[in-house]
Amino acid sequence: MARAVRATQVEIETAVQALRDGELVAFPTETVYGLGANAQNPAAVRKIFAAKGRPAAHPVIVHLDSPRFLHRWVREVPQAATRLAESFWPGPLTLVMPRAPQVHDVVTGGQDTIAIRVPAHPMAQQLLTAFGGGIAAPSANRYGRLSPTRAEHVREELGDAVRIILDGGECQIGLESTIVSFEGANIRLLRPGSVTAAQIRQVVGEVLIGAAGESPRVPGSSPTHYAPLTPMTIVPAGEIDAQADAASAGGRRIAVLAQRLPLRSHKYVTWINAGRKPESYSRDLYNNLRALDRGGCQRILVQDVPEGERWDAVRDRLLKAATSIAESDDGTTGTRAVLP
Ligand code: TXA
Ligand code: MG
Repeated sequence: MARAVRATQVEIETAVQALRDGELVAFPTETVYGLGANAQNPAAVRKIFAAKGRPAAHPVIVHLDSPRFLHRWVREVPQAATRLAESFWPGPLTLVMPRAPQVHDVVTGGQDTIAIRVPAHPMAQQLLTAFGGGIAAPSANRYGRLSPTRAEHVREELGDAVRIILDGGECQIGLESTIVSFEGANIRLLRPGSVTAAQIRQVVGEVLIGAAGESPRVPGSSPTHYAPLTPMTIVPAGEIDAQADAASAGGRRIAVLAQRLPLRSHKYVTWINAGRKPESYSRDLYNNLRALDRGGCQRILVQDVPEGERWDAVRDRLLKAATSIAESDDGTTGTRAVLP
């Protein structure tokens, strides 16, 4: 697929004008497409919640082109945040920091913190620099559903609710950013992403994993999130062929997302081999699930992914998208929860 990495001057001017007029603009980032509004205009930010069908208490990430205007949004930048920003910005990392007093409640969900990200995608950079301010943007999907990794996903999902969609081709990372928060001396990984816990540890030392206590506001904490419409089950790696046979018995159509080819041919089974590399598996994950979701199957079976931090982000999204986890022959479940 041809990738349009940069937008034309006219496209950027139109998008900037729309943002100034309080309209929504969908734009590519290297993680997923965002649904953007002027973060200083509460009425515009409210339109994001309406378009997504998202509960109002969920805070959104503010995107900047560089840390140069950070002080407009953040009261006090923790030292560890500065080090992480120097190491990973622009890039797929979001930092949750104390909010500046003038930040609107609709952006932060009324919390005392704000989430900031400097994306690396050239088109996101073009838009942010031309706009000259912060763009509040969650992923450009309906609430609870799969995040969009191509412009056509945004169009399919949000249609007329978004007049302007900047098309930057396929997102190269394909999963949402890593989110890190700072509470006193504690550094906490709230959402795993392509910047791994090990990479963060290397820069700032010890890192706590997962949300502290129960909060409705942590990423993807509703029962299913990042989810296809077809019921989805995670299956132990060694049993994917057997479970595909069992699930498709009697001619039921089944979809499989695996990391290898099938061991034998299965009737009634649509099989995607997404490979064994976490980078390409992640990049294609939402597009693969969308394709399987459209296939008219009764169930999606997903082969459990390997242990280890490189698979944490994928495992996290699969656990949130799954409606069930199949028991293994020995009675254990294959996938270990990364986040509570
Ligand atoms: O890669 C990404 O992060 C994409 C692109 C568009 O930047 N954005 C994204 O946004 O995934 P969204 O809204 O779908 O997920 C952001 C998550 C939300 O689930 C929200 O709960 C969390 O970030 N968040 C935002 N502000 C927060 C805060 N102050 N404290 C804790 N979590 C926060
Ligand atoms: Mg989202």
